[in-house]
Amino acid sequence: MSSVTIHDKDFVIYLEEEKIQKAIEELAYQLTQKYEGKDVVFIGVLNGCFRFISDLMKHIEFDVEVNFLKLSSYRGTASTGKISDLLSLNSDIKGRQVVVLEDIVDTGHTLDYLMKLLKDKEVASIEVASLLYKPDAFAGKTKPNYVAFNIPNLFVVGYGLDYDGLGRNLNDIYQIRS
Ligand code: IMP
Repeated sequence: MSSVTIHDKDFVIYLEEEKIQKAIEELAYQLTQKYEGKDVVFIGVLNGCFRFISDLMKHIEFDVEVNFLKLSSYRGTASTGKISDLLSLNSDIKGRQVVVLEDIVDTGHTLDYLMKLLKDKEVASIEVASLLYKPDAFAGKTKPNYVAFNIPNLFVVGYGLDYDGLGRNLNDIYQIRS
């Protein structure tokens, strides 16, 4: 599909499945170089990360715990800037190395909120890996350490990312038609 319509908006193909999968494999390799043999916990930020984590884990061969947090700041195609903590972390992460896995870092407000939450839990270290990063929208304090794709400041859907609840099932990533 070269374009899709979701609710009232049109989107055009931007990143194809094969390209996404290759980049994820490369990211898994980088994380393996750094974390193999360490006491590490991956923390996925729901909902958008579920496909990313599932594919990333196929290439992780060392022992790692995976946990999920649910945060939300989006209404429609714009970030509200206010984060709500919808589902809290349930594992003991004190003194452990944490890797946050994000589907996308946009304004960075979600990440700032999350960093504070994790630092309060006295973790040994925190790094962030994001599938997508919008440098032109970023206004936060913490940049992701690992990024699969830097993308322009345009709304995207697919591969776990939604527009008002829909589009997560798409295997490719689509960009809003400007
Ligand atoms: P931030 O707090 O502005 O960095 O936004 C982070 C969250 O907003 C992400 O985890 C996504 O859930 C959502 N988000 C940001 N940009 C997009 C986009 O282009 N498409 C879909 N969701 C997005």
